[in-house]
Amino acid sequence: MEKPKVVLGVSGGIAAYKACELLRRLTESGHDVRVVPTEASLHFVGAATWSALSGNPVSTEVWDSVHEVPHVRIGQHADLVVVAPATADMLAKAAHGLADDLLTNTLLTARCPVLFAPAMHTEMWEHPATQENVATLRRRGAVVLEPAVGRLTGVDTGKGRFPDPVEIFETCRHVLRRSSLARGVAAPDLTGRHVVISAGGTREPLDPVRYLGNRSSGKQGYALARTALARGARVTLIEANTGLPDPAGADIVRVGTAVQLREAVLKAAADADAVVMAAAVADFRPETYATGKIKKKDGEEPAPVALVRNPDILAEVAGGGTGERLRPGQVVVGFAAETDDVLANGRKKLLRKGCDLLVVNEVGEHKTFGSEENEAVVLAADGAQTPVPYGPKEALADVVWDLIAPRLG
Ligand code: PMT
Repeated sequence: MEKPKVVLGVSGGIAAYKACELLRRLTESGHDVRVVPTEASLHFVGAATWSALSGNPVSTEVWDSVHEVPHVRIGQHADLVVVAPATADMLAKAAHGLADDLLTNTLLTARCPVLFAPAMHTEMWEHPATQENVATLRRRGAVVLEPAVGRLTGVDTGKGRFPDPVEIFETCRHVLRRSSLARGVAAPDLTGRHVVISAGGTREPLDPVRYLGNRSSGKQGYALARTALARGARVTLIEANTGLPDPAGADIVRVGTAVQLREAVLKAAADADAVVMAAAVADFRPETYATGKIKKKDGEEPAPVALVRNPDILAEVAGGGTGERLRPGQVVVGFAAETDDVLANGRKKLLRKGCDLLVVNEVGEHKTFGSEENEAVVLAADGAQTPVPYGPKEALADVVWDLIAPRLG
């Protein structure tokens, strides 16, 4: 099998050194990587490093090996071009079709998916010029990741940080996987869409030490987030107690309890095109919270824990019972975690919750929770049924987006 060909474009920002880790991941997972740095980026990482790590020649301009016509060939033959880091200058050049070095020429000749991982100071990212360039690139079919929020060069903090290279690698993998399944270029069909995904398991505190919780790891929700990002969506990922690394480009909201999750979902869903509830939400919470640790008392039986119901977030967003969507036209998807009579219970749940799609998966102590794989049947409100065979959680996630995409208005 021929190795997938990836062009790693590196533009002139301090985050260039982090792209070495991205390159390493790509080469070690069997990709043939050609690094195309800009001249400015060589101030941060030299050509020798890129050449040694990729095993391929490195050039910044079109005048080397002219007989091989590199300014056309590199782009034409690529299966993926990823520009990481992408500076404000590089986004501007790409948006305007400038071609004054090897990387910008490559971007003009590439017909494969193109992914930009921007990194810059907050002011530069938020500048209307940069935002318009990003919008132009997205409109043309490129995937432009949102930068992370955090420490920037120097002492300042804000949006503009280079996402974790391991997570950029994951996005590259998803983009390549979709293209290979489509046997061609799979357009990012969620570009311009805002999707809200919940992941993980809520914890309902009894006292400062103990809580009622569940076994959800968040992996299925994170797979949904990563695949949506690779398909061009703006993703708000609301995570409950997962401890997983942030997917590159997602806006992350951290919550603990079901009540906090409800608040975060309602807020994020206000302008969302789709809401996917993969989180395992506690149906009940302790009626009272003890502000100090509950002590055992000699000779006394433990007091029973009184529970009260938590709000049903999915039913509220989908209009279960009322038939009224919080946001008309929004696509709402739930998951059903069942241990018995899986499909029959799933069908009843779909009706009760009022969502468009319900992903029914069987769970158990060592089943689905925490594993890398899943298997499910996706039930649709119109009666359609899509079985998804046992496989990686990301494959199920892609089927869910395949079913959501045509339902978006
Ligand atoms: O996180 P992993 O380890 O990868 O495991 C994945 C998973 C098993 C958690 C996931 O695939 C899954 O099934 N998530 C839904 C778990 C769940 O809460 O199922 P449920 O059948 O109890 O709830 C049905 C739906 O209603 C879910 O979409 C849930 O998010 C939602 N719900 C439930 C209760 C509640 N009070 N509010 C809700 O919105």
